[in-house]
Parts: sequence; structure tokens; C-alpha cells
Amino acid sequence: MTGTLAPTPPMGWNSWNAYSCTVTEADVREAADALVETGLREAGYEYVVVDDCWMAEEHDADGGLRADPEDFPSGVTALADYVHDRGLKFGLYSSAGSHTCQGYPASLGRERRHAEQFAGWGVDYLKYDNCGDHRGRDAVDRYQEMGEALAAVDRDIVFSVCEWGQNHPWGWAGDAGGQLWRATDDVVAKWRTHEDEFGLGVRDIVERLADLDIASAHGPGGWNDPDMLQVGNGPDSGQSQHEPTDVRRPLTDAETRTHFGMWCLLGAPLMVGTDLTDLAETDRTLLTNERLIDIDQDPLGAQGRPVRRDGDAEVWHKPLADGGAAVALCNLGERVREIRTAVARIDTVAEADGYRIQDCWSGERWTAGSDLAAEVEPRDTAVFRVWPR
Ligand code: GLA
Repeated sequence: MTGTLAPTPPMGWNSWNAYSCTVTEADVREAADALVETGLREAGYEYVVVDDCWMAEEHDADGGLRADPEDFPSGVTALADYVHDRGLKFGLYSSAGSHTCQGYPASLGRERRHAEQFAGWGVDYLKYDNCGDHRGRDAVDRYQEMGEALAAVDRDIVFSVCEWGQNHPWGWAGDAGGQLWRATDDVVAKWRTHEDEFGLGVRDIVERLADLDIASAHGPGGWNDPDMLQVGNGPDSGQSQHEPTDVRRPLTDAETRTHFGMWCLLGAPLMVGTDLTDLAETDRTLLTNERLIDIDQDPLGAQGRPVRRDGDAEVWHKPLADGGAAVALCNLGERVREIRTAVARIDTVAEADGYRIQDCWSGERWTAGSDLAAEVEPRDTAVFRVWPR
């Protein structure tokens, strides 16, 4: 336990994947309005986070941060108020170095001043990146410094440690004051990336989380973060245009189900990263699927784990607070697979002579003996919730 600021994984929207460095205050206001209109706020998405490029090119005379006068002419307080007025929470971005990843002024050595500014502006969430000159200081020290500065101000501010997993933040970011910590490099809107491309695809991240075996670091108050959602994104989205990644088409429906379904099995923070003013109905339905969100937000706070990896066919379990479990049958491969698992082998589910089962995509319910099986299309994932009968 590292505190109560994030008893369940934070949910919200972040500007980066949709807008990258072109973000403006109008985009952020539209996103806040759209969270309300699409029903995403109602489904639990509450933080509106402005990522990199919101700041002016120089610190102010006191070493403080200030908003870019052209892209954010109304200033941070007005934007935070706009977001709060819609029943949402407001987040900003900085970096534990001299500069942000896009070369804007950042917070190393100015943590107290910046934390006070954030509190004064009404910031509820800080995403803190790892770019810029580190001035010879190690990651633990740099993140701890901002964690302490945030703890010292008179406002609750969720601290999102974005260190890309390089120094194993699951071992120290909670003690540094973080409520979530990135476990991997940046997710891009692809299934897989090649070695010479920037970032990781959905399949790459699922495999990385399976290999890392860091579920024991994950729980109420502190969460492993496999990065934000790319649901709804493709070649035209901001990050795809900005980063050196060859994105040729949007994620397919099957890839998108695996992305969202596996992020929920992982108990991941769910930060939507698409243009919400142009959200397809299929993506809206997926992002507001309350059966999946309940799995993600389950109060036990367990991270799902792979219990079997048979080539590209994987079985994942996530124990849930009500004594049941979520089961994902995940086909990372290129041909249809029948994937089968024995519910009785889920060690957290009490043994019974039968089980109640619900398909989390369709909502359909039935009862069954121990075996749970599905024909899973290539790159698709079936997700079930099971309870002892
Ligand atoms: C890094 C982070 C991303 C995003 C960009 C912004 O790559 O990992 O999530 O914040 O910086 O420049």
C-alpha cells in the first residue's frame, strides 16, 4: 500500500496519443466535453491530462513553469477550472530532467516550486517523464524529490511515474510517492513493432508484462502501468504522425479487443488516448463496457497473470474480490485457436461442482463444469468472468 490516492487504477484521457505536440487548450476543453457526452465520465474516466508541449519555451523569471501563450492563452487555472466544472479532474505533465521529451522546460532542481504551482493551479495528477539532462542523479533520487514535493503541498496530486521501466520502478516508485509507474516503453497504435521502429505494439506489451512477472508489485495504491490506450487510433493520430513508427492502418476490432481486454486483465490504468470528438460507436461501446471496467477496477487490485502460454495461445487469470476470477483466452497468433482452461485450476476460486460463467464481451451467462473453452480468432481475446456456483 502506498496511499489512498489511487485505490483502483486511475482512469481518464491523456492528450499525447491523439494530439502529440500539437495539443491546444481548445483540444483539452473538447476532450472534457466529450468525456461527458460520450458517457465515458459516467463509466469512470475522470482525469483529463495534458501531456508534453503545454508549456512555454522558457521557465519564468523564478524558475517556474508557464503555459504556452499561443496554444494555452487562457492559462492553466482557467483550463483546470473548465475541467473541474464538468465533474472531472485535471492533470499535467513534466519531466525529471532539465527538459521534457520534446525539449520544453521541465522540473529537475525546481521540484518544490513546480509542485506549489501545480497545487495552486488545481492540478490533481502529474505525469512525470524521464527526459532531459539528469545532472548525474539516478532515477530513484529524481523521482523521490518530486514525490516529496507533491506530498508537501496542500492538495492531493496523483503521481504518475513515467520512467519506462528502465530502472525497475515497480521496486521503488511506490516508496517515492508514485501511484502508478510505467513498466515499458511507449505503446504505439500497432500490433507489433520492428526493432528499428519507435515504441511497442499491443502484442509486444502483453508479452513484456507476461515476461516481467511483476504482479506482486501491483495493488491498491500503486499500479504497474503498461501505458495508455491506443483504442481508436491509427496512422492519422498525433503520436503516429510524430514518432518514427510506421503505422499503416488502424488497429482492427480483434486487436482492439485484445488491447482493452488485456489491459483490464492487467488491472492497468485506463487512459484513453484518442480524439473523443470523433469516437466510433464500436470504440465507445468497448471503452464503456462495464463488465470489463469492473474487472479492471476490482477492489482486490490483483494484476492478472499468464497461467499457460502455449505458443501464441495464452490463458490469463485475475482473481477478483468477490471470490470469482476473470479469465482471458488470448490468441496472439495468426490462426484460429481453440483455447481451453480448467476453472478449477484457478487457485483463488473455491472448488465447486460447477461454475457460473459470463462472456464479458456479449454479456451472455451460463453455467458449466470445470472446462472453459473458446475458438478465438487471430489476434483476438475472449474474456470471461467466473464464479463458483
Ligand atoms: C515519452 C512518454 C510518452 C509521452 C512523450 C511526450 O515518450 O513515455 O508517454 O509523454 O514522452 O513527449
